[in-house]
Amino acid sequence: MKESLPANCQLFYAMKANPDDKIIQTLSPVVDGFEIASRGELERVSSYVNNQIIFGGPGKKDEEIRQLIQTNVCLINVESVHDLHRIAYLAEHAGTQAPVMLRVNLNRNVSESKLKMSGVPTQFGIEEDDIPQVIAEALSHPSLELKGFHFHAMSNNLDAHAHIKFVDLCLELSHKWQCDFAISAPIVDVGGGIGINYWNPREAFDWDLFADGLREVVERHASLTIILEIGRFMTAECGFYVTEVLDVKENHGEVFVVLRGGTHHLRLPAAWKMSHPFVAIPVDKWSYPFERPGVQGRKVNIVGELCTPNDVLVRQESVEEVRAGDLIVFTHAGAYAWTISHHDFLSHPYPEVFYLE
Ligand SMILES: Cc1ncc(COP(=O)(O)O)c(C=O)c1O
Repeated sequence: MKESLPANCQLFYAMKANPDDKIIQTLSPVVDGFEIASRGELERVSSYVNNQIIFGGPGKKDEEIRQLIQTNVCLINVESVHDLHRIAYLAEHAGTQAPVMLRVNLNRNVSESKLKMSGVPTQFGIEEDDIPQVIAEALSHPSLELKGFHFHAMSNNLDAHAHIKFVDLCLELSHKWQCDFAISAPIVDVGGGIGINYWNPREAFDWDLFADGLREVVERHASLTIILEIGRFMTAECGFYVTEVLDVKENHGEVFVVLRGGTHHLRLPAAWKMSHPFVAIPVDKWSYPFERPGVQGRKVNIVGELCTPNDVLVRQESVEEVRAGDLIVFTHAGAYAWTISHHDFLSHPYPEVFYLE
C-alpha cells in the first residue's frame, strides 16, 4: 500500500482498528505514523514511534491535551470552537505552540458507506460553513499553529471512484481556504474509511484503481501533503476468530449453532447487524456415547454463549454441514473485533491470542 502511494501522500495506521502490540511493532517501520484517540493509545504507541502521531476525538480531556503537547505529537484535531479554545489555553500555559488541524464536517454526504461521520448530523468536526470563522479564530491564537484540515468522513466505503472524488473535494476545499486566508496550512488528512467487503470478496475496494486516481488528483495540488489514516483495510484480513460449536438445535423452524464464545469476543456483526464471514471446519473426534447434533445443507444462525438474543454472529446463511464439536473460523476478524467487544458481560474467559509469523 505504502509503495503504491504518490510521494506527497503519507500513510498512517488508525490504531483503533486493532491496537495489538505485534501489529504496532510490525507496522512502525513501514507506515509514516499512527492515528490515535486516547491517552491509553498514546502510551501503547509511544514505545514504537516518537512524534509521528495524530490525535483526534470529540471529547478530549485537559490531562490528555497536556500530555499531547508535552509528547510533541505532530498533529491534534480540533473538533469544535471550545476544543480550539482549550488547546490554545493549555498550550499557552505550557509555553508552547500546539500543531492543529481543523476537523471539517462537510456539507454533503460523500459516499454510500456503512457509517457516516460527515455530511450528516454527528458529534464530529466543525461544519464546513463555519470553517472560515474558525480559521480566523485559530490564527488569532499565538499558541496554535494551524497545519491543515482533517476530513475523516466515512466507514467501510467500497467504491474506489467515490473515494477519489472525496479526496479531490478535500484538496479543493483546503486549497481554497489557504488562498482565502493567504496562509500555508498544507496538511490534508482525508482519514480512513476504506472498506472491506465482508459479504462479497469479488467486489472488494479496488486499491490499485484508488492509488492511480489519487496520483492524478494530487498532481494538481503538489504543494499539499495528503495523509491517509487507515484502520480496517490494513488489519481486517489479518485476524481469525476460531470457536468451537457447543450445540446445534432447532427452534421455531430455524437452526441455531451455539458457540463457545460470541459477540463478547467479536462484536462487529452485532454492531453492524450483519452476518460475519465464516468457514465451518469439521472435527471428526466425538467422545460422548450419545448422538451428535448437527445439520446438513441448511440455513443456520450462528450464535454465542451469552444470555441475550442479540448474541448473533451469522443470520440465516447456508452451510453444507455443521455438528457439535466442529470449529467455526470467522475470517476478517483483525479489525474492530476483540477491542470493540463487551468482554466482561457474563464473565466468560477471554480468547487466547496466537500469532502466525
Ligand atoms: C478519525 C479517524 N481516522 C481514521 C479512522 C479509521 O477508519 P477505518 O478503520 O475505516 O479506515 C477512524 C475510525 O473510526 C477515525 O475515527
